[in-house]
Amino acid sequence: MTDRQPGSIPTIVDCDPGIDDALALALVAASPEFDLHAVTTVCGNVTVDHSTRNAIRTLAACGRAEVPVCQGAARPLVRLNPPYPPIHGENGIGDVELPATAREASAEPALAAFERVLEPAVPGEVTVIALAPLTNIALLLSTRPDLADRIGLLAVMGATIDRGNVTPFAEFNTWADPEAAYRVLATNEVPTRLFTLAATRKAALDESQRLELAAWSPVGATIAEMILGYDDQVTGLGWPLHDAMVVAGLLEPGIVTLRPAAAIEVDTGTGRRRGATAVTWDGAPHQGGAPRPLEVAVDADSERFRGLLRERLSPLAGPPSD
Ligand code: RIB
Ligand code: CA
Repeated sequence: MTDRQPGSIPTIVDCDPGIDDALALALVAASPEFDLHAVTTVCGNVTVDHSTRNAIRTLAACGRAEVPVCQGAARPLVRLNPPYPPIHGENGIGDVELPATAREASAEPALAAFERVLEPAVPGEVTVIALAPLTNIALLLSTRPDLADRIGLLAVMGATIDRGNVTPFAEFNTWADPEAAYRVLATNEVPTRLFTLAATRKAALDESQRLELAAWSPVGATIAEMILGYDDQVTGLGWPLHDAMVVAGLLEPGIVTLRPAAAIEVDTGTGRRRGATAVTWDGAPHQGGAPRPLEVAVDADSERFRGLLRERLSPLAGPPSD
């Protein structure tokens, strides 16, 4: 258990489940430190309709059906993406059919959910965990810049400081909506912790570790089954469950190696480097005053990550009846 008290982290999770998103949601659901006010969804790994359905059913499978799931953007801000392989399966969760639930998406769209949570918050109170293309976050910061100061930490899975995963140059979340990534990462003033592929690749499970996950709890078994439908083993270390490393790093910051940075650039061109990212590491103050609070996760401890997963997911019994 971390030293954070139960409910001490008011949180919104923005995601595109996605198998690693599902594991991240399970870890949030199983961790009492997070006061989970809403889950917002966006197109990315799959259509936003699939993202929303998968988020609803994953939360229900974790016994957290009460958390509102609020649908967001159905497409990137500017350009549609070229076709890309469905590495999370056609349905986004390894083509596993989760148990149906009576729950439906909230009538509240994603932006309204952000407004509902952020408007009454005090400055710096809310943590936003962004595990997908940053379309919803960009729309929030552009339509309600007055709410930006309520966000104490924007924890983002995205970007790469070495090689990409969807192209040789770009990580999927920044590639899928580079204009949104630019708006959120290159220009906003929100304290940001960016979990790059260099850290999240370490959230990999090989087959023996997947079988361990399956043995921990019914939820673990469900996610272990999803992982079999995850067509992303390029690291050679097993299946990289990128998004779950963000949640683990918030629960136990020592799991990741953080470096301060001054700026992030995102390629919004239409060439082969579209979506590529570059970090300025020196601590030079951000133009116009105090350094922007920007940290980049550049490595992570795989063993501590798996230990936290086991600690948190083992007690998850599975869904009560609706
Ligand atoms: O590059 C990894 C990211 O892209 C993760 O968020 C994964 O879910 C996909 O969306
Ligand atoms: Ca994701």
